[in-house]
Amino acid sequence: MTDTLYDRLGGQDAIGAVVDEFYDRVMADERVAYYFEDTDMQKQRIHQTQFISSVTGGPVEYSGAEMEAVHEGMGITPTEFDAIATHLDDALAEFDVGEADRQAVLEAIDSYRPEIVTASD
Ligand code: HEM
Repeated sequence: MTDTLYDRLGGQDAIGAVVDEFYDRVMADERVAYYFEDTDMQKQRIHQTQFISSVTGGPVEYSGAEMEAVHEGMGITPTEFDAIATHLDDALAEFDVGEADRQAVLEAIDSYRPEIVTASD
């Protein structure tokens, strides 16, 4: 049986560690950090870990809200989306995830771009 991307990333615990690094980077980036001012970051980290686990083929149920409903009305621009996606890519690299797997994660995430980006630059 072939490994899923989820397996190659090291499963849910490894993805959780990437997500912690990812949000540390997001919160240090003043271009986007203010979006999360009123967010319960503990819940956010749990939901994001579930979300990335499930979209990479893991046997994990995402228990948060739908992408469109969550980001509706935030007015997220393409540049802001790219900034967040780059932090995820950098967090994956920090954990030595190779180029091909990083690209596969980013492609999976990018498929949600139309539901998340609602403003123009
Ligand atoms: C890159 C792709 C993105 C993915 C996969 C993603 C995913 C998620 C997930 C899974 C949640 C949790 C929903 C819940 O708890 O029910 C969430 C919430 C949130 N997202 Fe995103 N997101 C993305 C991009 C962005 C961007 C670009 C911004 C802003 C610049 C943003 C701002 C937020 C905020 C502020 C919340 C929390 C809302 C609250 O406090 O309840 N997201 N996102």
